[in-house]
Amino acid sequence: MTYQSGRHFLQIPGPTNVPDRVLRALSRPTIDHRGPEFAKASLAVLEGLKRIFQTAGPVVIYPSSGTGAWEAALVNTLSPGDKVLMFETGHFATLWRNMATALGLEVDFVPTDWRHGVDPAVVEQKLVADKGHQIKSVMAVHNETSTGVTSHIPLIRQAIDRANHPALLMADTISSLASIDYRHEAWGVDVTIGCSQKGLMLPPGLGLNAVSAKALDAAKSAKLPRSFWDWEAMLAANKIGFFPYTPATNLLYGLGEAIAMLEEEGLANVFARHDRHAEATRRAVRAWGLEVLCADPQEYSSSLTAVMMPDGYDADALLDLILKKFDMCLGIGLGKVKGKVFRIGHLGSFNDLMLAGTLAGLEMGFSLAGIPFSKGGYAAALEYLEGNHTEYKG
Ligand SMILES: Cc1ncc(COP(=O)(O)O)c(C=O)c1O
Repeated sequence: MTYQSGRHFLQIPGPTNVPDRVLRALSRPTIDHRGPEFAKASLAVLEGLKRIFQTAGPVVIYPSSGTGAWEAALVNTLSPGDKVLMFETGHFATLWRNMATALGLEVDFVPTDWRHGVDPAVVEQKLVADKGHQIKSVMAVHNETSTGVTSHIPLIRQAIDRANHPALLMADTISSLASIDYRHEAWGVDVTIGCSQKGLMLPPGLGLNAVSAKALDAAKSAKLPRSFWDWEAMLAANKIGFFPYTPATNLLYGLGEAIAMLEEEGLANVFARHDRHAEATRRAVRAWGLEVLCADPQEYSSSLTAVMMPDGYDADALLDLILKKFDMCLGIGLGKVKGKVFRIGHLGSFNDLMLAGTLAGLEMGFSLAGIPFSKGGYAAALEYLEGNHTEYKG
């Protein structure tokens, strides 16, 4: 591969582009993680994260990827043999199920066609049928990154409440946190799982758990073995701004900067920006004569769009060509939809001209790859963007 000049386009649905302000924060000298300067900064970050998760309760930060934060949610709240209810909304829901099974949980894994989210009616039906309250937790991926489908967490909460069932509710917000409206506390979620490399605009390396009082209570009797992931030691140390082991000091600097940026923009504006870019993207897809994988407009994802390839054309080959010709990475299809879809990430640090560049690269890629499509997706997206300049709230 020869040198390619100009800016690389990283348009996978995470890791996302890390803005210059965050890169500069990451490059500050590492300090003593047991000293007073560190404690002051980490207390501010821990408080700031509560505002991002929209909760007054604690948020735990691990030096891990999102997978670690999944494991932390399970091992802190559940016991071997516990029954849990999960939904096969896509590849990431499947990986989380595999982890739950490996940890010794008994998973009722409800299938979907990978084009829909969690059906709250099924949640209600399963919980009503569970007279003996064997199901200890309902687990949902809020935004399924492999399909671009967003499940309705508040409706799942209502279904649990209607069934009058004590199960915990856990939600994976790895590709929705700080991109799509999400309210840990108001929506009655017990453990929310997040990570650094998507809406938070950081490199990979931080795994997050927002924890409810009910989840903390469950942790007291949960018997799955845990040590590194134990909330108790973490929360005790966090009270005074410290961690039970060496934290990812520089990523925490970056996190502080990212929180400041999100709050300067305003969370409501951040969500509106993602909604607008997602709508422009879908207009492009439709104008190309292609189909969005998500089948229900009420479940469209605002952080990414998965696009179905015309029959007989391989998505991976298209993405290889676009990378070679235009130095742009898009998300490949994962699991059951490998080769059949590609994914456009439009989350994190992103603006109109980055979207325009992304769609232009795709449109040129379709032509070069000989894919049957109608020109005009790029134009349709720009027309929408021009006509819909959201009046951002200050
Ligand atoms: C929805 C979702 N959950 C979990 C994960 C796993 O996170 P990680 O790869 O950071 O371990 C991902 C990764 O993209 C994801 O998108």
